[in-house]
Amino acid sequence: MNRIFTSQTVGKVGETVIVAGWVHARRDMGKVLFYDLRDKDGLLQVVCVPSELGDENTEVANTVRPEWVVQIEGIIQARGAKQINEKLVTGTVELLAKKITVLNEAKTPPFEIDKDTALVNEEVRLKYRYLDLRSERMAKNIRNRDKVITFFREYMHRNDFVEIETPIMMKGTPEGSREYIVPSRVHAGKFYVLPQSPQQFKQLCMVAGFERYFQIARCFRDEDQRGDRQPEFTQLDFEMSFVTREDILKYTEEMFIELIEKHFPEKKFTSKPFTRMTYAEAIEKYGTDKPDLREDKNNPNELAFCWILDFPMFEKGDDGKINAMHHPFCAIKDEDQDKFMSGDDLFSIRANAYDLVLNGYELSSGSIRIHEPKVQKRVFDLLEIGEEEQKAKFAHILEAFEYGAPPHGGFAPGIDRVVMLLQNEPNIREVIAFPKDGNARDLMMDAPSELPTSALKDAHVKLDI
Ligand code: AMO
Repeated sequence: MNRIFTSQTVGKVGETVIVAGWVHARRDMGKVLFYDLRDKDGLLQVVCVPSELGDENTEVANTVRPEWVVQIEGIIQARGAKQINEKLVTGTVELLAKKITVLNEAKTPPFEIDKDTALVNEEVRLKYRYLDLRSERMAKNIRNRDKVITFFREYMHRNDFVEIETPIMMKGTPEGSREYIVPSRVHAGKFYVLPQSPQQFKQLCMVAGFERYFQIARCFRDEDQRGDRQPEFTQLDFEMSFVTREDILKYTEEMFIELIEKHFPEKKFTSKPFTRMTYAEAIEKYGTDKPDLREDKNNPNELAFCWILDFPMFEKGDDGKINAMHHPFCAIKDEDQDKFMSGDDLFSIRANAYDLVLNGYELSSGSIRIHEPKVQKRVFDLLEIGEEEQKAKFAHILEAFEYGAPPHGGFAPGIDRVVMLLQNEPNIREVIAFPKDGNARDLMMDAPSELPTSALKDAHVKLDI
């Protein structure tokens, strides 16, 4: 007989079955012992009666403790009308145990798994993440994350996009954040960096003629942590050729509406179509480019999407230097071309860049891109990136643009933030299976960690600490 999942027991009243899983809870009522058996699908009530089990199995039943792994053979029986538990998928049935096999014992967990772990000390939860993920809320977050990613993949494929994996070891992308660096063993003194996003590769995929690229892309940024930031996170990164801003906004808006209506039907939109405003309007009216436009901020099911358009192309950095506000690959608005060419009033030049904001969080950023080498060079010049540096850092992209780069644009919703907001979680750590803590540490594996001297030597690394 093969093992079945708890969810499959419902239609099997009167049948002998084998189930397996973890003992979620144990209730000793004297003559009868109840377990809640947990597997990937949920819980099943198991009834242990000595007269059905015999001496040997009764002894096993009495020794079993929460979180032990067991296999149980028994007969599925219907519960009495009063015993039906509507909260459980298996709430109309229970298993009358005949044989119990212990597959593995378990130490007492450092926190209770059968309760919501949100109030447990987070360091302990992160150290024992594999136990935290057994809890109902966390398991649901991770499963719903999979639903969201599966939906995005399917939606992209349905619309003729091709998923292309781009390198994790690359040369720096100048997107503003500090990069994680990887020393090269073979090329002494040289380094790869981990991508902040696949920005340059996706644009090069447009030069390559794919026209519609996407990737469930892992991105890495060495920046200060916040509730909505992790050093590694995931984007639904996409890029399209021969499109206008309107095409990208429409495509994205329809995608989010379909996702939510299909998988989160309890949610309601504050406005559909999504509200639109320019960056200048947002700053003037709300004092932020991430306005929270919900009508009732206490309603966990309200979603206020808002487009912010026409971001400034340039901004002054903390060091007084001129920076690209989004990144240096954004196209300039037609209306601001004269200023762009003359270099006058730089900070008033607008990029054809847009953000999607949800309930006060920046969900996604994107832009129509530059596709002409001379325009791209002009941006680098205005950013005071000298000829030599341009050549060293961007020769590949400037050269690629000389081989017939099509007009293109794209977008990159942060998947962690999408899932966080849809699951009503207060931070993205709650929707990432194995996140880093607020200091970018993996408390479970204890990373980052020291390396043996030989490994450092191989990578030509000398410590200066
Ligand atoms: P940007 O840097 O704005 O744009 O990032 C796009 C989206 O990625 C998410 N995000 C993060 N999520 C978690 N932790 C972080 N540290 C983090 N940083 C960013 C956010 C954000 O809106 N290449 C461009 C996109 C483009 O122009 O197409 C880019 O990466 O949800």
